[in-house]
Amino acid sequence: MTAILLKGKEIREEILAELKSEVEQIKKEHGIVPGLVTVLVGEDPASVSYVTSKIQTAQNLGFKEVQVNKPETITGEELLELVHGYNRDETIHGILVQLPLPKHIDDKKIINAIDPDKDVDGFHPVNVGRLVIGPSEVKFPPATPAGIFEMIRRSGIKTEGAEAVVVGRSNLVGKPIANMLLQKAEGANCTVTVVHTRTKDLAFHCKRADILIVAAGVPQLVKPEWIKPGACVIDVGVNRVGEKISEKSGRKIAILKGDVDFDMAKEIAGWITPVPGGVGPMTITMLMKNTVNALKYKLGII
Ligand code: GUN
Repeated sequence: MTAILLKGKEIREEILAELKSEVEQIKKEHGIVPGLVTVLVGEDPASVSYVTSKIQTAQNLGFKEVQVNKPETITGEELLELVHGYNRDETIHGILVQLPLPKHIDDKKIINAIDPDKDVDGFHPVNVGRLVIGPSEVKFPPATPAGIFEMIRRSGIKTEGAEAVVVGRSNLVGKPIANMLLQKAEGANCTVTVVHTRTKDLAFHCKRADILIVAAGVPQLVKPEWIKPGACVIDVGVNRVGEKISEKSGRKIAILKGDVDFDMAKEIAGWITPVPGGVGPMTITMLMKNTVNALKYKLGII
């Protein structure tokens, strides 16, 4: 069997086109566009690159985009003040503080200071609670699990009654996607098992999975013989395992491997995400969707 590739790039384009026309419609009917502020502290190259992509995507969609760059030396109090200011700003519907923050700042304090109705990352405890209670309570599902959920839904994979096994129990991916697949809702209704570093027999659980979601951060942890024939395999891992010279640019680039042995697994699975190019491209898109929704909630149109 050769699995169907679930390509985030293609699904992303579909969603971005939908969002763009929604933004135009809202602007026409209500005279307002979604407002997103991105706060970047310091110059960590990975954070700069993420934030740049977020800003570009927001601008392409016609958002009001406010960029705030602060030096590493900013104090926690100053950052809190900044967040409070955007909480009060009527033209801003989404506040994104790029993580990680410098060590001297307590990131929990900063996240907890964001108005939960502007927390488009879905990291505030109120939004975590809404996600667990779901489905009608959910406002802002975090971007990576939301991207996974959307990929599964748009690919027509049957979830009702399916055995879903989630490898990894992080707050960013494992716990939220497990909760989302568990909900009594269309696109969910799975029987969910979460496995982690202390699980006795990882292989046993993975082999039962109709839907296997792997977010462990361990290169090629999941072996091909752990995959049930025809299963849907979502690999969230992005592990740097070395460097190579790019044929296109002639520059050094990272060699990335997922948490699943892709080359072998694709012969067994029914659907599989490549790394890179699978889940990755979905995350910024889902953040944009949350920002559009933040405005729609405010306008009372969802
Ligand atoms: N750093 C890495 N991923 C994320 C994300 O999704 N949101 C924020 N705010 N920071 C991040």
